[in-house]
Amino acid sequence: MSDIPRPELDTIEKAYARWAPVYDLVFGAVFEHGRHAAIAAAERVGGRVLEVGVGTGLSLPYYSSAVRLCGVDISEPMLRKAQQRVAELGLGNVEALSVMDAEHLQFPDASFDVVVAQYVITTVPHPEATLDEFARVLKPGGEIVLVSRVGAEAGLRRALERWFAPAARNEFAFERYAAWAQNTDGMRLIERRAMPPFGHFSLIRFGKLGGAALACDSEKPSSMRAAG
Ligand SMILES: C[S@@+](CC[C@H](N)C(=O)[O-])C[C@H]1O[C@@H](n2cnc3c(N)ncnc32)[C@H](O)[C@@H]1O
Repeated sequence: MSDIPRPELDTIEKAYARWAPVYDLVFGAVFEHGRHAAIAAAERVGGRVLEVGVGTGLSLPYYSSAVRLCGVDISEPMLRKAQQRVAELGLGNVEALSVMDAEHLQFPDASFDVVVAQYVITTVPHPEATLDEFARVLKPGGEIVLVSRVGAEAGLRRALERWFAPAARNEFAFERYAAWAQNTDGMRLIERRAMPPFGHFSLIRFGKLGGAALACDSEKPSSMRAAG
């Protein structure tokens, strides 16, 4: 991890070292709906799943035993909690939990069928570069599944956001995620679905072209679909 820009990550590490002891209590229930939606999306693809920013591993017990899981996180104290959970619950489908930066994943290309990142992408220093890295380790036909804060595009929700988080502005407007898919070879946006609390978060799914997806009619542009 020598090429990680340390100052930005040090701040994040320190913040999550403080959160680790109370994280489950504060953020367990409030993000539950999004976690279940992300897991359901990942399970539809199945196979080998990478959870980036796995944190204390709150989501790990909800995957079926058929799915093989790897988890990575920049915070060692958060990961220690995840390791404890895996041991206590005997989660045999968790292959590995490792300290790793989301933007510099230490996995070969095309290692995973699904990359899941819940409540993570808005905390990393370079969201687009991080998404590039997710796409790199994804197998053709695989999916990136995010649950992420999305800036309100207009109206009252946008006004409230600016009031509560003036520094954040609209930097995570949905257009930013959509533009990444549009500008990235072989990736496409599959779905965006609002998630509680307050619709501030969305489930966002991207697909990597190739593999089984090519065999599916609905994946092709309409001009390529069989008539009738
Ligand atoms: C809001 S928590 C979400 C944890 C978990 N996904 C959940 O649903 O509860 C964000 C997590 O992302 C991790 N994180 C932040 N920046 C990261 C990075 N650059 N690389 C890997 N993990 C990171 C934090 O340490 C923290 O555990």
